Amino acid sequence: MNILVTGGAGYIGSHTCVALLEAGYSVIVADNLCNGKEETLNKVKQLTNKDLTFYEIDVTDDIAVNTIFSKHEIDGVIHFAGLKAVGESVERPLTYYNNNVVSTMVLAKACLTYGVNRFVFSSSATVYGDNKVPFIETMDLLPTTNPYGETKAMSERILTDIVKANPAFSVSLLRYFNPVGAHESGLIGEAPNGIPNNLMPYVTQVAKGKLEKLSVFGNDYPTVDGTGVRDYIHVMDLAEGHVVALDHLTEGVHVYNLGTGQGTSVLELVNAFEEANGIKVPYEIVERRPGDIASFYADASKAKRELGWTAKRDVIAMCRDAWRFEKNYME
Ligand code: NAD
Ligand code: UD1
Repeated sequence: MNILVTGGAGYIGSHTCVALLEAGYSVIVADNLCNGKEETLNKVKQLTNKDLTFYEIDVTDDIAVNTIFSKHEIDGVIHFAGLKAVGESVERPLTYYNNNVVSTMVLAKACLTYGVNRFVFSSSATVYGDNKVPFIETMDLLPTTNPYGETKAMSERILTDIVKANPAFSVSLLRYFNPVGAHESGLIGEAPNGIPNNLMPYVTQVAKGKLEKLSVFGNDYPTVDGTGVRDYIHVMDLAEGHVVALDHLTEGVHVYNLGTGQGTSVLELVNAFEEANGIKVPYEIVERRPGDIASFYADASKAKRELGWTAKRDVIAMCRDAWRFEKNYME
């Protein structure tokens, strides 16, 4: 089966390409390389010893997208391509709505035109807003605090409406919790531009000495030790979740949380990193980060029940693999 992977040169997309190729799928990647590298796709080929096809295109460009659909017999689409920096989305809302929502519409339209019925979408736990934890798929979506989150909620609604009008179209909406870590080889991983916003890449850069110390954003939350709690998920577990979601896709819209169901605080993650890698991570407690919520984690039971999928790798493995990639392959 031929799967079109948009954003396949990026962090989660590249790991999913590995999982797809290993599961026997053929992969066509469409990526404009605004935040991905062709080099990463070469590493995917090296890791799997398999080939893939790459198109450097923007997936908001319907002519370029249609060209791919007309050249290849595509059986399914996994749509990762998107911009993901929350702060930047507040400054550049039009760029985010255009990139993240128009791309979903262009790809869905091409699917309908070419009779492609399988569509898997990268959504985010951010669509739950500040619902009560654990987040469960049946909850009403609450407004998110930023345009990035809105692009995910909008894309979910657009795809749901398309299914209502086209019952043969099958859509899986995957709501990721906090993806971290890297492929066990350490060859591919998360390579953020500039100073990282997210916790794990910040920690690995402190461990490497690129940054002096971690600022822990608040220790007065109502959590186990006062620091923020999140549901970190190993990127390879997430990648494998996509393959399983694709394998099980049937008509209609299916929503799944991809998380572990376990909350980990900032200080617990720092301790796990130190234990996994034997390296100290200096930190100081600073003010809360505006917009942060105290705690969120998944109710991960639906994916287990319906897909037979659960995350297998623990926080120690996440820290070990994130560090192996930072140590060996980052500048
Ligand atoms: P990433 O930036 O590493 O990968 C995204 C890829 O899409 C990049 O290679 C980029 O070049 C490409 N891209 C972006 N816009 C494009 C366009 N218009 N046309 C073609 N290619 C384009 O990000 P990631 O962490 O791998 O995230 C993948 C998806 O998962 C995104 O949609 C993101 O919003 C979603 N997501 C990510 C997280 C996370 O924490 N990483 C959490 C929840 C959801
Ligand atoms: C961020 C995004 C969210 C996205 C998620 C997925 C924001 C506001 N939200 O959320 O939309 O879906 O990533 O990866 O960017 N922390 C520190 N010091 C740091 C960095 C983080 O203490 O230098 C803390 C945070 O306060 C939080 C936890 O670590 O409690 C995790 O932060 P982060 O990795 O940025 O993820 P999210 O806050 O969940």
